[in-house]
Amino acid sequence: MNKVTILSLQEMKRSKKKITALTSYDFTTAQLLNDAGIDLLLVGDSLGMVKLGYSSTLPVTVEDMAYHTRIVARGNSARLPAGRQALLVTDMPYLSYQASHEEAIRNCGRMLKEGAEAVKIEGGANIAPVIRALRGIGIPVMGHIGMTPQSVHAFGGYKVQGRQKAQAARILADARAIEKAGVFAMVLECIPAELGRRISRSVKVPTIGIGAGPGCDGQILVVDDLLGLTSPPSPRFVKRYADLRKVIQRSAADYARDVRTGDFPDKDHSYS
Ligand code: KIV
Repeated sequence: MNKVTILSLQEMKRSKKKITALTSYDFTTAQLLNDAGIDLLLVGDSLGMVKLGYSSTLPVTVEDMAYHTRIVARGNSARLPAGRQALLVTDMPYLSYQASHEEAIRNCGRMLKEGAEAVKIEGGANIAPVIRALRGIGIPVMGHIGMTPQSVHAFGGYKVQGRQKAQAARILADARAIEKAGVFAMVLECIPAELGRRISRSVKVPTIGIGAGPGCDGQILVVDDLLGLTSPPSPRFVKRYADLRKVIQRSAADYARDVRTGDFPDKDHSYS
């Protein structure tokens, strides 16, 4: 059985094997990403921006995340026992883990009931007590530091963090604080490559970068960005491996043309 677990990720860091991660929001994509050998699927709260049409991740609810976790978990489990199975992590939305430990435990525990194997929460030293509370009842936690999108208004926009010396030192201290609190891995978002490398060397748990340079132990992207489904412009760190917007627009236009001209359905697509 080829099941990726939090232990596999830690072993990958020790053996210097790069970790591959992508977001996933639906059944089919979860299957396809497993077929492609992706190690970690994140039901990201980027869901709000790429699938629900919000301009930030802030409006996303616990119900939204629970619903999509259930769907992705079905796509993920469809790949066992014959195939492999990625580690499934669910992102906790804004205000689902900050107000009290009790709420954090209830909301994060809910995601495990829906099929997630771990949760991700944003924040550094400030969030370490929450990480401890979750770890205390056996919920694996992935951290997320640097440019944390749920703090977009506090940052004054989606801006690279850690360019100034003091800011970089604070992000490094955050990495150490959440490692000490018990995260099994951490996302580093939108920080200078040199800081990404420095943090990755300073902590024992795997770092998964998004706009944090090649020195991280693994990389994650929003799958809709990679596939060219989101509308440009994209952040600098996005590499588009396909242009599915064009493919979908062209296919729909070809279909509409064929229906209008009477070329579809033809004999091959009709019953006798
Ligand atoms: O919500 C998300 O998709 C994320 C990743 C981009 C790390 O947090």
